[in-house]
Amino acid sequence: MHLVTLIPGDGIGPEITKAVTDIFTAAQVPVQWEEQNAGQTTFDQSGELIPGALLKSLEKNKVALKGPITTPVGKGFRSINVTLRQKYNLYQNVRPSKTTAGIKTRYEGIDLVLFRENTEGLYSGLEVYDERLGIADSFNRITKEGSRQICRAAFAYAAKHGRKKVTLAHKANILKMAGTLMLDACKEAAAEFPQIVYEDKIIDNMCMQLVNKPEQFDVVVTTNLFGDILSDLCAGLVGGLGVVAGANIGDDMAVFEAVHGSAPDIAGQGKANPTALLRSALMMLHYLGEHAKADQIEKALEATLLHKQECTGDLGGQASTSQFAQNIIAKL
Ligand code: NAI
Repeated sequence: MHLVTLIPGDGIGPEITKAVTDIFTAAQVPVQWEEQNAGQTTFDQSGELIPGALLKSLEKNKVALKGPITTPVGKGFRSINVTLRQKYNLYQNVRPSKTTAGIKTRYEGIDLVLFRENTEGLYSGLEVYDERLGIADSFNRITKEGSRQICRAAFAYAAKHGRKKVTLAHKANILKMAGTLMLDACKEAAAEFPQIVYEDKIIDNMCMQLVNKPEQFDVVVTTNLFGDILSDLCAGLVGGLGVVAGANIGDDMAVFEAVHGSAPDIAGQGKANPTALLRSALMMLHYLGEHAKADQIEKALEATLLHKQECTGDLGGQASTSQFAQNIIAKL
């Protein structure tokens, strides 16, 4: 039995988390959940944004499944997602995007995995504001070690999963120092894995290529901000935010969560698609070595996706979040 910390989050978080835990129960997955929460609701109840009990649970179990957490724009609390990623050095944000039978999109043949650096860059939290001059500076801190870690992780993943190519997306033509650190780190990693083709692309061209000919990409590695933007773009290519999974991985801890946020526009209405969180949970099962259970649930999900009417509205269906989950359970 694997003990896993479960963070339902807020907005649509609790609805999609319940869908996933119901499917896991029905499939008799050997996972025992330890539920802890964070965010505004937790703060209102306990005065803590990230309760000590949540951190203790994470440090003990080393694996978590997390729903999305709202981060207010502008002033307000610092992102809990960014805080957890930095505190536990979860430096890899791994986000697969794949076209799937039944999910309508303009594209076919996409099967790429994005490796986003998860702790540095413009998300380092290093910002100063000079009120007198009206100037805000946000530091794009990139380290040699951080760049090496993420580039190496992308190549190691490619080698382990039989992938053929790694593409670095960067802006080293303008960001002469920070961009060059990533370029050098990727060249270094590429030399260690000569069987994997390596190429680099400037981020603006990368966006155009992704929209124009996404099937050319295999594994993509990039910095924090570019990765954040590219992963939503890639989600759009394969059916939307409701279907793409993600994982924040460090050397000894992993937090699995969907790419999407708390979707306040549809929260509490039973409209949220649980596929993205379910697919994140399946990545977690592979991480835990529970490959057979992951495959069993994935097959049931894929069979459900073939019937549009059994899915949620974002996929053209009419099912609610919980009906969608029941439809998957019926096919296990
Ligand atoms: P969002 O990803 O929550 O929503 C963008 C659009 O996609 C909305 O129209 C939403 O309804 C739709 N959508 C998202 N997930 C869906 C699902 N499972 N099924 C169907 N439709 C879905 O992005 P937004 O609105 O920019 O952010 C809302 C909040 O979420 C913000 O406070 C943001 O900071 C936070 N956020 C949290 C993340 C996390 O906890 N990892 C990641 C991204 C954003």
